[in-house]
Amino acid sequence: MTKTVFIETYGCQMNEYDSELVRSILKKENYEIVTDELGADIVMLNTCTVRDNADRKVVNRVHEIKNRRKPDPVLVGILGCMATNFKTKLLEDPNLGIDFIAGPDSYKQLPKLISEVTQSGDKSFDITLSEFETYSDISPSRDEGVNAWIAIMRGCNNFCTFCVVPYTRGRERSRDPESVVDEVKRLVSAGFHQVTLLGQNVNSYRHDATDFADLMAMVSDVPGVERIRFTSPHPKDFPSKLLRLMADRPNICKQIHLPLQAGNTRVLDKMNRTYTKDEFLALVDEIRATIPGISFSTDIIVGFPTETAEEFEDTVDVVRRVRFDSAYIFKYSERPNTLAARRLKDDVSEEEKTRRIVVLNELQRAISLEKNRDYIGRVERILIEKDSTKKSDMDCQGRTDSNRIVIIPKSDYRIGDWVTVTITDATPNVLKGMPI
Ligand code: SAH
Ligand code: SF4
Ligand code: F3S
Repeated sequence: MTKTVFIETYGCQMNEYDSELVRSILKKENYEIVTDELGADIVMLNTCTVRDNADRKVVNRVHEIKNRRKPDPVLVGILGCMATNFKTKLLEDPNLGIDFIAGPDSYKQLPKLISEVTQSGDKSFDITLSEFETYSDISPSRDEGVNAWIAIMRGCNNFCTFCVVPYTRGRERSRDPESVVDEVKRLVSAGFHQVTLLGQNVNSYRHDATDFADLMAMVSDVPGVERIRFTSPHPKDFPSKLLRLMADRPNICKQIHLPLQAGNTRVLDKMNRTYTKDEFLALVDEIRATIPGISFSTDIIVGFPTETAEEFEDTVDVVRRVRFDSAYIFKYSERPNTLAARRLKDDVSEEEKTRRIVVLNELQRAISLEKNRDYIGRVERILIEKDSTKKSDMDCQGRTDSNRIVIIPKSDYRIGDWVTVTITDATPNVLKGMPI
């Protein structure tokens, strides 16, 4: 009998992509993917463990699933970064009752893991990390829409001292450029308008002599690719060759996610980020000089161990000077086994972390609003990606090249349409527009 599987995804875009791979792997083995958890024989949670609250969310969810399905048991599997971070400890916890776990490099083993559990009743696991697995031979089972994710490299060798990702996803490895280009061609034929190249350090991509800029050029040359984005890059890998290419190619979006993490050079050194405050600012200047109109988003951590209130002011200073278009700001969360956890005490109080995150969020909100208000009156070409919004069925939503959301009256636009609009209003997070 066909077994039904429900997959829920947490964490970053790489996990979204991996869930598409898992769906494809399971469909080939005759599993049916369902969208209702209650109707599923097997529930899989593709998990994130980057901060403590990500773990807690999943643990609560497992309890909820198990409780709701009493007395009929349901098989529950944990995929993704919690699997490689906590390993078999997850299976040993009797309160959780998890049946199998699979890490990010073990998804081809899932059919085997599931049949082991169903046949023997014993728990099963595969959490080995690979130096080679890129899943380039698997065509992900994608959701319909405007954008398709493509992982071009996996893993991370940077070992930022706060970060668990190098332990959960293993070493860096890049896909053969030909396989990426072939996939992009197939995506264009399937009607996707945008591709987003993914990697934990996407711009550290290297396959033999092909570097990230070379690959971007190859992807940009594929006829019919309307928009190309990429995430997440590391500030250490932005050679001017890449910046010039971005400036020259109309189908490469003028938007960069440039994770700052902290503004103080001593703290950046303790984080092992490999750049100073001044180097970060100089990079921003160089990018702005080469690619006029570029938009920046960033990630920031407040309250890294030993960060003083005065050092935090350097982060505030960088945020004021760069004026990022948007920012994701996090409180430092100690992750077991990372270098920071082993060497440094989590010594900034919760209260002080809250104070710092509030300061930065307020500052960033004001900057985002000012920058968005600058758009009022401008004419923008947007690509429609949703036929309704959270608030209204009468509106639809698209994005500018700079990745800003624009809400417009629905009319008879379809997902994938290009619409030229005048921007009429702005909040810190969205723009409103009128088609012209
Ligand atoms: N590879 C990506 C990001 C991975 S995690 C990159 O290098 O940009 C996404 C973000 O989570 C990071 O940029 C960082 O800001 C945040 N983060 C990672 N570890 C964290 C921790 N221990 N505590 C708080 N935030 C963390
Ligand atoms: Fe984590 Fe740093 Fe690697 Fe990003 S670059 S995944 S923050 S170790
Ligand atoms: Fe989370 Fe793993 Fe992505 S820890 S942020 S799901 S790489």
